[in-house]
Amino acid sequence: MSPATRRFVVSPGGRVAGEMRVPGDKSISHRAAMLGAIADGTTEIHGFLDSADCDATVFALSAMGVQVERLAPGHVLVHGRGLRGLRAPAGPLDLANSGTSMRLLTGILAGQAFDTTLVGDGSLMQRPMERIAAPLRRMGADVRTSDGRAPISIRGGRLMTGCDHVLDVPSAQVKSALLFAGLYARGRTRVREPAVSRDHSERMLESFGVSVIREDGAVGLAGPAGLRARRVSVPGDFSSAAYFLAAALVAGSGPFTVRGVGVNPTRTALLDILRLMGADIRVHAMGTADAEPVADIEARPGVLRGIVVPPSMVPAAIDELPLLFAIAALARGETVVTNAAELRVKESDRIDAMAAGLAALGISVEVQPDGMRLRGGAIRGGTVDSRGDHRVAMAFAVLAAKAESPVKIDDVQNVGTSFPGFAQAARAAGLRLAEEA
Ligand code: S3P
Repeated sequence: MSPATRRFVVSPGGRVAGEMRVPGDKSISHRAAMLGAIADGTTEIHGFLDSADCDATVFALSAMGVQVERLAPGHVLVHGRGLRGLRAPAGPLDLANSGTSMRLLTGILAGQAFDTTLVGDGSLMQRPMERIAAPLRRMGADVRTSDGRAPISIRGGRLMTGCDHVLDVPSAQVKSALLFAGLYARGRTRVREPAVSRDHSERMLESFGVSVIREDGAVGLAGPAGLRARRVSVPGDFSSAAYFLAAALVAGSGPFTVRGVGVNPTRTALLDILRLMGADIRVHAMGTADAEPVADIEARPGVLRGIVVPPSMVPAAIDELPLLFAIAALARGETVVTNAAELRVKESDRIDAMAAGLAALGISVEVQPDGMRLRGGAIRGGTVDSRGDHRVAMAFAVLAAKAESPVKIDDVQNVGTSFPGFAQAARAAGLRLAEEA
């Protein structure tokens, strides 16, 4: 996709078959760059996601004196400066659309000797940031938000002390920020969540030589703790693979396989949900790449039925819920999703954005504060607004394959934040997707 692409036009009739690979995992790429930057030694990363969001992390690290060498697409060297080696940036750090960059970096920056200010684009500046600032202040950090949002101002030179945190909502970004701050704090930092969020930070901290404590349902570490650089192999992003597995289920002409995908169980609940809906999905495990399990995932076309999604499955499928709403619009009967209020504070209000787009295509939905109830039916052609949200845009691209006439998806320029090359990949997989400036 060229940076100028503002709209997708998807024509019906695409048929998905064959196999593909997807770009590297976004969550793991961010963490590898950040932990590499504060480790001792050089971290070599294979499969790094060259996307706008990960660029934002690299830009911020470079602005603080970290040398990041891009040897080839996805092949990156991060020359670590050690726990205390970052330098004051010349100005505010602009993290663009990337919530993961802003929240995880805040944890690291809380422990520095210098001051920083973090800003982002219109979407990121609207997202809640007190969820990281408040617990960091409890550790002794000086982190201030503006009415709960960015700009975030961090005063350096504070003595931090580890403490026990209990989160109201499961959030890997909050948990990671606190653990990263814990590397700089004296004593033990522990985080307890109401449900397990993605655990890439814990796995990667361990592989960088930090002892991670797991006890009483909490995860923690004892600071101060330094990191040792290492080689990181990033698997394909499950969240990106999900669009094509779903496309194969609803618009497949035979088996379709996505190869080399990260299948960390804190990320893959969508597969369980789709199986409850009747999907034929097979996971061919390939072992682990560093600390992360990897597999080829195969999906076969078939009829899906609506379900009441078990609320306990929602946290590990949170980024795939826009796609699930799209799939539910094609399933027989009613689907109900609850326990998903977090969707309202993602890159867009994803409940609202999906409900509006589905309505524009003829599917009436009952919106709830924490989810949605909808019945599958015929999909009309029309125009939907993805509201600058990459996951909303890609979810509608899948749904549009089954519409009665073409669907225009507006405001898609942020698809490159997580999935550069999505449009070409969609065409190669068999979808009839055109780009317009
Ligand atoms: C992420 C955590 C999740 C997820 C986001 C990436 C991460 O956010 O939605 O896309 O890499 O830690 P929350 O921590 O806000 O749930």
